[in-house]
Amino acid sequence: MLLKSFPPMGIYETLFKFADATHKYMGDPGTHPWAQGFPLTTQLPGGPPLPTSVDITSEDLMYPKADGQPPLRQAIADYYNHFYDAGITADNVAVFAGGRPALFAILAFLLPDTTVALEATEYTPYWDVLRLLEKPYALIPSHADNRFRPTEADYDVSPLDGTSRVMLLKSNPCNPTGIETKGDALKRLVDQYCEPGRGALIDEAYEFFGDPEPESALRYIDDIDATDIFVVGAATKGLQVPGMRVGWCVAAKPYIELFRNYSSLGMGGVSRASQLYVTKLLEIERVTQARKAVCSFFSSQRERYREGLSSLGLELFTGHGGFYHWARLPDGDTGNALNERLFEHDAGILPGRLCDMSRGPDGGPSVLDRMIRFSFGPLTAESYESDIEILRQVL
Ligand SMILES: Cc1ncc(COP(=O)(O)O)c(C=O)c1O
Repeated sequence: MLLKSFPPMGIYETLFKFADATHKYMGDPGTHPWAQGFPLTTQLPGGPPLPTSVDITSEDLMYPKADGQPPLRQAIADYYNHFYDAGITADNVAVFAGGRPALFAILAFLLPDTTVALEATEYTPYWDVLRLLEKPYALIPSHADNRFRPTEADYDVSPLDGTSRVMLLKSNPCNPTGIETKGDALKRLVDQYCEPGRGALIDEAYEFFGDPEPESALRYIDDIDATDIFVVGAATKGLQVPGMRVGWCVAAKPYIELFRNYSSLGMGGVSRASQLYVTKLLEIERVTQARKAVCSFFSSQRERYREGLSSLGLELFTGHGGFYHWARLPDGDTGNALNERLFEHDAGILPGRLCDMSRGPDGGPSVLDRMIRFSFGPLTAESYESDIEILRQVL
């Protein structure tokens, strides 16, 4: 073997286990994809239709620009300026082939004397990427004892020995907990990480899924060019098009230039057809309607499942954002054991241990063994009764 080997990240590991056990792909018709992080890709009640085509000219068959096509970069800047008064231009936006490629690029270029600070319960691939890139990191307490809600003081992380800076890495709303940092608390966090020697990567993949409305750190940044803050967004969740593979980073101009240079050697830009499609989705009137529909549909699903899962004896820690429930199983049960029983019903959840940033690489015990992440993102309103019935049987 000539290459360094590396296992799949936890969500895919779960999908592969499911496929081995059921000979089906989780998400195929007839399966119950509660481990999956994708939203419905169909029109929501009160939401705009999803376009079924884009027009392509011979020019669109040429290479894309390394940092993204100008109309998409402008549409992204207009979006944040309209909804959050962000004061940014297209020069503050770089387009990537999804949210994860943006996260990976930012972390890959992080100077070596930087400590990454992140909550102990976070989005699965953060753990893989930090290991792969051999980044030093410090954990912010987030566990059942503090109900996965760190205090403001907890976010005040000092550089680890041998490093001189701190970069906060945070999903907001948080995947898997759905806990949102917003309003004044978000403003204070942004201010804290605008101090010299600090920076932050705020991952807003679930921006639209806030209750009662979406929120962004860009609302609280006066001049992005004077900060080391990176706001990552994607068309994956809120715009309901994970298959388009379009994500972006908003940051100070010199960073966007760096991402352009990275793209020139490592990515070659992003499919022009996908960029044309997503540019259409961001048209202000359309996206205003989409934000409202996403908020209202998923907030109602969140509350229905909150009630249903609680009535089955699960202890919920979920916040008011995202499209997951974050739940503790009764004593003696684990996420892994539950999945073995669920696979017999063509269903599966994400075992909570895969969101444990403190776990070792050897598959040993985790403080989150009893936690599960239940996704209601891909579920239609009609599947509720059968979902709860399957869970009732296996619990
Ligand atoms: C917290 C978070 N960030 C980013 C992403 C980006 O995903 P993608 O690379 O599919 O755009 C996801 C998707 O699951 C996510 O949950």
